[in-house]
Amino acid sequence: MKTYATIAAFREALDTERHAGRAVGLVPTMGYLHDGHRSLMDAAVVANGVAALTIFVNPLQFAPTEDLSTYPRDLQRDLAMARSAGIGHVFTPDVAEMYPEAIATTVSVAGVSSALEGASRPTHFDGVATVVAKLFAIAGPCRAYFGEKDFQQLAVVRKMTSDLSLPVAVVGCPTVRESDGLAMSSRNVYLNDAERAAAPVLHRALRAGREAIEQGVRDAAAVRAVMAEVIAAEPLARLDYAEVVDAATFVVPAPLAGTLRLLVAVRFAKARLIDNIGVLA
Ligand code: PAF
Repeated sequence: MKTYATIAAFREALDTERHAGRAVGLVPTMGYLHDGHRSLMDAAVVANGVAALTIFVNPLQFAPTEDLSTYPRDLQRDLAMARSAGIGHVFTPDVAEMYPEAIATTVSVAGVSSALEGASRPTHFDGVATVVAKLFAIAGPCRAYFGEKDFQQLAVVRKMTSDLSLPVAVVGCPTVRESDGLAMSSRNVYLNDAERAAAPVLHRALRAGREAIEQGVRDAAAVRAVMAEVIAAEPLARLDYAEVVDAATFVVPAPLAGTLRLLVAVRFAKARLIDNIGVLA
């Protein structure tokens, strides 16, 4: 496994792999890797001749009030996990390498970016789309692996890749959960013991919403209320949003029909967690 701090060296390494006939799998991350990332790396390693990992905590996707300076980092542990997963190349640029001067060009994906995470964190998806576009431009033709845990991010990345005709196949991978249902996330580290015990409430709320739809509820407000009630019963959790949308368009269908996605965001004292599940109506 080789690591690269510069754009030029990482780009050259992946060009060399493709010239040798190997397809490239790319796993973009912000580091502090967990088993969710491991599943993305495994998928990239299995389906491609070589797999590459990027580790970059992207300042553009954090608002000034968010956790950029405290975002958890552990490069040595990340590299050990990448090595054991069979990753061939790791890109670990610093901010000066990625953004040597104030950036004047940003990528903004209208529509799918605006609701939910986009409403709660207005500049977030422009930051994500911009850095992912840069990473795709640096990596070149590849398959790129993203977790469904960030379902709206996945939709933003897919739309951006298709609109800009980038030579990348975006692959979504299922959410990996702890045994009590909590979706794995680097931000789970912000939870204290009591909050960690309370955090599976997100998954419980989503399952309650799904059950309502499976039992025939077709009114989005009623499904939202079912999920909100589950969250409200947990004193340490504060609901940010609970929503049900069409999985492709992020529009709320009335009545609920087709391939739907239930999504929730919940605040604890220091952590804001998101989760989602799918259901057919
Ligand atoms: O999901 C993440 O870790 C980040 O948002 C991503 C896609 C690596 C962009 O910084």
